[in-house]
Amino acid sequence: MSTGRPTPELEATIGGLSRRLAEARAAGRTVGFVPTMGFLHAGHCSLVERARVDNDVVVVSIFVNPLQFNPGEDFDDYPRDLDRDLEMCARAGADIVFVPDGPEMYPEPVATTVRLPALADVLCGASRAGHFDGVATVVAKLLVIVGECSAYFGEKDFQQLTIVTRMAADLSLPVRVVGCGTVREPDGLALSSRNAYLSEAERSQAPVLLRALEAGAALVQSGEADPAAVEAEMASVIATAPLAEIDYAAAASASTLTADGPLRGDVRLLVAVRFGKARLIDNIGCRAG
Ligand code: PAJ
Repeated sequence: MSTGRPTPELEATIGGLSRRLAEARAAGRTVGFVPTMGFLHAGHCSLVERARVDNDVVVVSIFVNPLQFNPGEDFDDYPRDLDRDLEMCARAGADIVFVPDGPEMYPEPVATTVRLPALADVLCGASRAGHFDGVATVVAKLLVIVGECSAYFGEKDFQQLTIVTRMAADLSLPVRVVGCGTVREPDGLALSSRNAYLSEAERSQAPVLLRALEAGAALVQSGEADPAAVEAEMASVIATAPLAEIDYAAAASASTLTADGPLRGDVRLLVAVRFGKARLIDNIGCRAG
């Protein structure tokens, strides 16, 4: 199907991408960057569309980053469909799609790791040891390759967004990190490449994540400041889905991702739930009095 937009240019090398973007910036053009692992859906496209509105040149990267998968996780099976991804990038307005292969990104085993322990070892980092070190390391590398830009990340992965924002500030990267809202299915399930793993029965129960978050938010808004009470409420909603196996249900400060003491100010409610092979995450924000 024709999109009426030119097909984005493919770039597979770090040197080639850096040169093109240096030229664009020298001509006074702004750069928007959307890092992804591909198998794109409307959530990814919302970031590309936002980048299109804000910038002169839009770059999407597609790279399934081995550093952020633990042994036994789904690196080998991670869904891939480059032709479809390119079609979606074209439709969303990307100019350049950066598709490095493994040896281009990591010609040698990496000796450098970017690590933010206080933010990386909680929540998803507690059950996926080292995951956010792999994320922070590849995102740092991609941001260095792309250079001065606005970079777009989804709130869907709120812990990742928090880590990237802090990393860019700590390292004085010439990057404006922009957080974008979560795109959902009509029944509330957050779009995710991993939804492809759900059986029909699991898919029908998966909206329980948002229902649990909304129940937690309602409790916070009614004045409950004890994180344990809010967490118990979310867990009890998740327990109503027979195929759901809870990893965590957390009520935390939106900036530190931990809760030491009563909930105050900007609160983030976050859940991770396994349905068979799929591990789904979701989160929403609310205000505590
Ligand atoms: P990936 O899972 O492909 O996600 C790429 C970007 O799309 C992330 O910023 C993610 O938060 C955003 N996204 C995913 N689902 C979304 C949804 N339903 N609504 C809005 N945005 C959504 O996240 C990664 O890749 C990787 O960790 C990466 C940052 C590329 C580093 O390898």
